[in-house]
Amino acid sequence: MSVSTWTAAAYLIAALLFVTSLAGLSKYETSRSGVVFGLAGMTIALVVTVLTALETASGLGIALLLIALVVGGGIGLWRARVVEMTGMPELIALMHSFVGLAAVLVGWNGFLEVESGHTELAGSLLGIHHAEVVIGVFIGAVTFTGSIVAYLKLSAKIPSTPLQLPGKNLLNLGALAGFVVLTVIFVTGPTVWLLAAVTVLAMGLGIHLVASIGGGDMPVVVSMLNSYSGWAAAASGFLLANDLLIITGALVGSSGAYLSYVMCKAMNRSFLSVIAGGFGAPTSSGGAEVTGEHREINADGVAELLAAATSVVITPGYGMAVAQAQYPVAELTRRLREQGVQVRFGVHPVAGRLPGHMNVLLAEAQVPYDIVLEMDEVNDDLAETDVVLVIGANDTVNPAASEDPGSPIAGMPVLRVWESADVVVFKRSMATGYAGVQNPLFFRDNTQMLFGDAKERVQDILAALKSHAKV
Ligand code: TAP
Repeated sequence: MSVSTWTAAAYLIAALLFVTSLAGLSKYETSRSGVVFGLAGMTIALVVTVLTALETASGLGIALLLIALVVGGGIGLWRARVVEMTGMPELIALMHSFVGLAAVLVGWNGFLEVESGHTELAGSLLGIHHAEVVIGVFIGAVTFTGSIVAYLKLSAKIPSTPLQLPGKNLLNLGALAGFVVLTVIFVTGPTVWLLAAVTVLAMGLGIHLVASIGGGDMPVVVSMLNSYSGWAAAASGFLLANDLLIITGALVGSSGAYLSYVMCKAMNRSFLSVIAGGFGAPTSSGGAEVTGEHREINADGVAELLAAATSVVITPGYGMAVAQAQYPVAELTRRLREQGVQVRFGVHPVAGRLPGHMNVLLAEAQVPYDIVLEMDEVNDDLAETDVVLVIGANDTVNPAASEDPGSPIAGMPVLRVWESADVVVFKRSMATGYAGVQNPLFFRDNTQMLFGDAKERVQDILAALKSHAKV
């Protein structure tokens, strides 16, 4: 077998492992093996790519490759070890930006190779090569800057409110039309200035697309950028004539697009509107002013409510993750179930900061799967529920989504917790949630606020329940 045949065989095995990994990751029970398959595939891909590169690389090339491996691997390991679960979306957004930047650099390299005469391509093959260059640079640059804006929004370094430039749809369409025109000119007569113009145009489009999307729609943006990063990698694969990169890029691109579609459906958003930077979405007025008096309750009061209840629904949100309250919440669930109370969880599809965030936390704390229900499975039962505990959730339980058409989250399905007899909201203040929208739930007659860190408050309730039991 020649070396290239070995490489092709190894790439094929890696590609099959990636497909198996995706299949494994689609179910909770098989997700661990999915991760292992993915790791194995990536290890094979990396080792074979490095070995293949070493065959032809100069001394300087080998040194640069080793430095890149050590520095990149070191930073990756360090970040993965220290990142909090709540910081994962930011980290993922940042990683997507690297994929985008890599695609831009690969594209530019492909162009400069031709310019310096380091290619044997001619005629129509050269035209195809130029098209690959310009498309790769375009997708890569959109992904690069879009992901940086997503990172800045997710980490609250810039406000999550949507940028509403006048004629924003025309700007996006104009940028796309400009790209098509520049591509045609570039393929027929490539110059460095044309490629620079495409790069700048795409970088501007990436910034504008993501900046135009509001806080509540960010989950879709993250999966959409995931998809773009896949297509950017596939474009690089064509340029580098690397089959594995093409297959892997296409897998990431299509699975990211499908995830975005599923999330759009769950949030009642138009898929095309979101990927086009809010194209056609009604301009929100920021929502109606919410005023009123809120009522407070203490842990003792909540313990009394729970002791008298026969059915309880817990709706967790981002605050439960921040407080790491899942363990006392699991203990509270166990205690109430032992006393014959029916306890169920209602999980919103975008609760927390990443898909399945709440499910992972509850599974970690060993809450039984069969009482962890999706929003649609629990929503119709809330009117017959005695007590709903809203633990660190805010946007996902906001009645404004269904009652205020001017709200930035209007139309998003939410958990209708206000239909239950009593609602207790666990949070530290009256502050808004991720989308920056005020929540009229807090001022409803049947809502009481339990202020403080969610973990501490649930522990206080557990202690109060214990002392009630002793009396
Ligand atoms: P959010 O609307 O983000 O609200 C979380 C609430 O938790 C905040 O109002 C905060 O209020 C409270 N909180 C924070 N730390 C706390 C602590 N230690 N103890 C008690 N409470 C605490 O949460 P949600 O309902 O889960 O909604 C998720 C939002 O994130 C949606 O807008 C969604 O679109 C967006 N998003 C989701 C994802 C995915 S994929 N899930 C990705 C990106 C963005 P205080 O500050 O007053 O405590």
